[in-house]
Amino acid sequence: MIQKPRGTRDFLPDEMEQRRAVEKRMRDVARCWGYREVCTPEFEELELFTARSGEGIIEEMYVFEDKGGRMMALRPEITAAVQRMYLNEARVTPKPLRWCYFADCFRYERPQKGRYRQFWQFGVELIGADTPVADAEVIMLARDLLQSSGVSFSLHIGHLSFMKALLSDMDVKEQRILMRYLDKKDHEGLKSHLGRAGRAELGSSLLALLECRTLDEVIGITGKIPEYERIEETLGLLDDMDIRYSLDPGIARGLDYYTGMVFEAFADNLGAENQILGGGAYRLAHLFGGDEVPSSGFAIGFDRVMVSLGDSEGETERVVGIVYTPDTRTYALRAARAFREAGLRTETDIMGRSIGAQIAHASKSAQFVAIIGRRERESGTVTLKNLDTGDQRELDLSTAVREVVTSGPRG
Ligand code: HAM
Repeated sequence: MIQKPRGTRDFLPDEMEQRRAVEKRMRDVARCWGYREVCTPEFEELELFTARSGEGIIEEMYVFEDKGGRMMALRPEITAAVQRMYLNEARVTPKPLRWCYFADCFRYERPQKGRYRQFWQFGVELIGADTPVADAEVIMLARDLLQSSGVSFSLHIGHLSFMKALLSDMDVKEQRILMRYLDKKDHEGLKSHLGRAGRAELGSSLLALLECRTLDEVIGITGKIPEYERIEETLGLLDDMDIRYSLDPGIARGLDYYTGMVFEAFADNLGAENQILGGGAYRLAHLFGGDEVPSSGFAIGFDRVMVSLGDSEGETERVVGIVYTPDTRTYALRAARAFREAGLRTETDIMGRSIGAQIAHASKSAQFVAIIGRRERESGTVTLKNLDTGDQRELDLSTAVREVVTSGPRG
């Protein structure tokens, strides 16, 4: 039997309904913050992703040559594509632009629970704003989105200037190597790398920095940094708005385009793959031929949120089963239409089953059955049976529809 590709998943209807319910809650929150949805292609020119991160990133991507000999990649993330789209389509639109997306990404990773080769991100990009309140806005939105999903999480906020202050005498390549160690939380690797380079004392300062939990502790190690007032203002706004977070100078982020504030969120009940959100302030547009546009944003690892939520039952939808005798088929199909027009999930027999077998089948998913025989057809009624309570009454079709609509979701 042919199997699905490694690192991908199939979603059966119950799981899809649960995913859609969470997705809808996130969309509603994003809309309330003024973030409007955009969509970009599943594949882009490879260069879009290598422009900032270099050829090394190819290892982690699905890359292919198309029939015209162009090198393409399945998108490993959406931020670069949104910046390209901004340059192509919306450069002259008044700033700031508030955009969001819900989209699948592809990374050639070693699959495990919470780490897939195809996964979904719910993300936002705030383009063209560079103020403490813009930084605070995306963090507050991140919190609201995660909270709407029902996941239990902690939010960590850092700033790249903390580490950069300690690494300022190193070239950019070396800085990136060290940041990678920090991003992977590989502190032993970091220490031995710096030891080999004769910079063991820097290793100690970096590790001490990671322990800091207040801005003053950070400054005690880095000395005063130019970004201090800005960071203080952003954190002050978050405090004023009662946002709970930890200051975490160890956040380095895996992607290379971040410039300032960075933040991540972790689910309380997940193991190794517990990072459910990552983002920060960044600049990318200038690499794609545009002006430098300060931007910030984040993406939620939607699949990890779903793993964290587990199989918790969502609202159970009301389902109506239309049960009918062969001679009333047209009336039964019309009755089904009336229930559907009222927005109810309605199923009719299409297997030619007996009345008893139809009721037995419907009772597997339905809360109500509308039973139709010749008498009901002739009087324009249905016999509505509530399968939870056993109540059964013959009602006008329109009354029966209203009865189900007002019955409320299944408890
Ligand atoms: P990222 O941290 O690479 O950031 O990904 C964001 C989130 O996607 C992660 O925190 C994680 O939850 C989820 N994720 C990443 N890889 C996988 C995977 N293989 N399987 C399942 N979930 C995964 C970005 O992608 C940036 N574009 C975020 C951003 C937006 N920064 C600014 N704007």
